[in-house]
Amino acid sequence: MITEKIRSVFLQTFGESPLLCHSPGRINLIGEHTDYNGGYVMPAAIDKRMVVGIASNDGNQGRIHSIDFDEDFTFDLSSFSPKKGHWGTYIMGVVAQFQQAGYPVKGFDMVFGGDIPVGAGLSSSAALECAVGFALSELFHFEIPQRSLIHYAQKAEHVFAGVQCGIMDQFASVMGKKDHVIRLDCRSLDYRHFPLVLPHHSILLIDTQVKHSLADSAYNQRRLECQEGVIAAQKINPKIQSLRDMDLGILASIQHEVSDIVFNRCKYIIEENERVLTASTLLDNNDLEGFGEKMYSSHEGLSELYEVSCDELDFLVDFTKDLPYVLGSRMMGGGFGGCTINIVEKENVPSLQQEIETAFESKFGVNPKFYEVSLEDGTGLV
Ligand code: GLA
Repeated sequence: MITEKIRSVFLQTFGESPLLCHSPGRINLIGEHTDYNGGYVMPAAIDKRMVVGIASNDGNQGRIHSIDFDEDFTFDLSSFSPKKGHWGTYIMGVVAQFQQAGYPVKGFDMVFGGDIPVGAGLSSSAALECAVGFALSELFHFEIPQRSLIHYAQKAEHVFAGVQCGIMDQFASVMGKKDHVIRLDCRSLDYRHFPLVLPHHSILLIDTQVKHSLADSAYNQRRLECQEGVIAAQKINPKIQSLRDMDLGILASIQHEVSDIVFNRCKYIIEENERVLTASTLLDNNDLEGFGEKMYSSHEGLSELYEVSCDELDFLVDFTKDLPYVLGSRMMGGGFGGCTINIVEKENVPSLQQEIETAFESKFGVNPKFYEVSLEDGTGLV
């Protein structure tokens, strides 16, 4: 068990017992790329998590050991900067946010590890940021409110990792609730926990194992394209702040002002926001089949209009389309690789896995991975 491992490595390395905190990865049922457009999302925290062991030291350094990379990293708390592509960047990013907000982070020792696959679209980086933020807050008694913790973690990603992400991942990691999904309004941050207990179905993630190296720059690019649509619409109605305020009628009226690409990006976001609202009503009415159809339309938009899918993800979604025991399937997260999320009748999960494994292997020469996930509580003490 990861907690025991962290405790014992900590004891060996730093000679004492740590305070243990954790923060989970997340799934997202529907509402993709809507968060940074002031829209709606429907994520949940899952039973894969990042665990952090922490204690203070007498120096002015963060001394860290990563179990998963089997690597050490030390930085000086009064002078540090991002190290592109290195896991230490996420930790330093959170420390920088705390310092900027006036929280006096002192020397600390840390060991961390977890079971969230990296690059699978399950937000392992957000989980690390939130676990580290919470651990520092507990250790030094900063008593940072959850909302601020979420914002510092998101800012760490913007400033240190260079990804202009929305709020969904950090929000879901901190605010997750067992057996519930969250419907979050990313503009007001109003949210509701919806119970989601599926007696006959599983939430099955299928990991393509594809990690696109240009995913971060393409992500930032999508954000700019959406912003172009908003700026064009503001010439007609200055009250429009984000794509959230637009409908397809307004979009049609600016069609001649924007490129086809910008038009398609905006169309997808406007439709996806609508879909999340309809999908949450369907969920309220226990209409899982209707919900599943919305997942398929979401994927179509992501693939054709927003263009963040890839052959492997499209293949997995297409594969399930005519299977009566799969209610819904779509790519999940930023895209360009990672997982699809599927709602599958429990008893058919093993045979589906086998069929997909054979078909995927023969087409792409790679074995996909499968994760059946449950919905769990968010960030906290272990
Ligand atoms: C990544 C980002 C999120 C969100 C998703 C797409 O996970 O970190 O903020 O934009 O992509 O929905």
